[in-house]
Amino acid sequence: MKVINKVEELTVELNIFRSKGLSIGFVPTMGALHQGHLSLIETAGKENDLVVMSIFVNPTQFNNSEDLKKYPRDLNKDIELIKKSACSIVFAPDEKDIYPDENSKKSDFNFGLLTKIMEGKFRPSHFDGVAMVVKRLFEIVQPSKAYFGQKDIQQFLVINHLNNHYLADLKITLVKCPIIREPDGLAMSSRNLLLNDDSRKSAGLIAKTLIQAKENYKSFSVEELKKWVIDNINKDTKLKVEYFELVNDPDLEEIKIWDKNKKILACIAVFAGSIRLIDNIYFN
Ligand code: PAJ
Repeated sequence: MKVINKVEELTVELNIFRSKGLSIGFVPTMGALHQGHLSLIETAGKENDLVVMSIFVNPTQFNNSEDLKKYPRDLNKDIELIKKSACSIVFAPDEKDIYPDENSKKSDFNFGLLTKIMEGKFRPSHFDGVAMVVKRLFEIVQPSKAYFGQKDIQQFLVINHLNNHYLADLKITLVKCPIIREPDGLAMSSRNLLLNDDSRKSAGLIAKTLIQAKENYKSFSVEELKKWVIDNINKDTKLKVEYFELVNDPDLEEIKIWDKNKKILACIAVFAGSIRLIDNIYFN
C-alpha cells in the first residue's frame, strides 16, 4: 500500500492505471478509521481493480471550531489498520493541496430541501463544505465508483445530487454501503472514541429505539411515534435528542402519514454527553 500526499504524484500514478483500462474505486474519509470504513474498502475491492482511500479532515465542513480541533487524528494508526485491506493507495493531502487559497473555500451549490433540514439545519454550511471537498477529491481521483456509508444518509443524498447535477461529466457511480454497528447496536463512528464510559453505555439505546420504532411504527400515528422515540431516548439522562425526523428517500420530504409508496427513513441526532451522534433506519 502506498501513501501519497501530493496531488501531482497521485495523478501520475492513477493515469498509469487508467491507461491500462483498470477501474478505480474511491473511498473518501476523514480518518480515525474503524470497521465501518473497512467495510467500504472491502466492497470497493470486490468491484474494482484498484482502491484509493483519502484521509483528510476537511476544515470547511466543521461549523464549530472546537469540533474540528477535537476530531480524532492518527494517520499511522489508520495506515496500520488498512495495511492488509484491499486499499492500494492512501491519499492524505495537506490543506493547501485541497484548498490552495481562500477563493477555493467558497461555494455556490444549491441542494434545495436536501440541505435545509436535519444536519443542514443544525450544522449550517456543513454540506457546502462536504460538497466542496468531495467535488475536489472526485476531480483529482476521477474514480469509476465512489463508496459512501448509509450511516451519513443525508450526506449520501447530497453527494448524489452533487454528482448528478454538478459533476455529471465525470460519470462516477455512487455506491451506498450498509451501516456497520457495535454489538449493542451503536453505529460505528470516529466520534465514538470521544465518548466517556457512561455516555458510551447509554448510546446503545439510540439504535435499540430506532429498531423498536421500525418494528412497531404502524401501531402509532407519525406524531405519536416521534414523541415516543424522543421520550424513550431522553429518559436516559446521559442522552438528549437534537432532532428525530421521518422523511422520504430520496427527496427528504417530511412523512406526514404512513404511505406504503414512500421509502420511509427515520433519522436522528443525539447528544451523548457533549458528543453528537447520528443514526438512521429504513422502515420499509
Ligand atoms: P467519515 O466520517 O470519515 O466517513 C467516511 C465514510 O465512511 C462515509 O461515507 C461514512 O458514511 C462512512 N461510514 C462512517 N461510519 C460508518 C459505519 N458505521 N458504517 C458504514 N459506513 C460508515 O463522511 C465523511 O468522513 C466526510 O464527510 C467525507 C465524505 C470524507 C468528506 O469530508
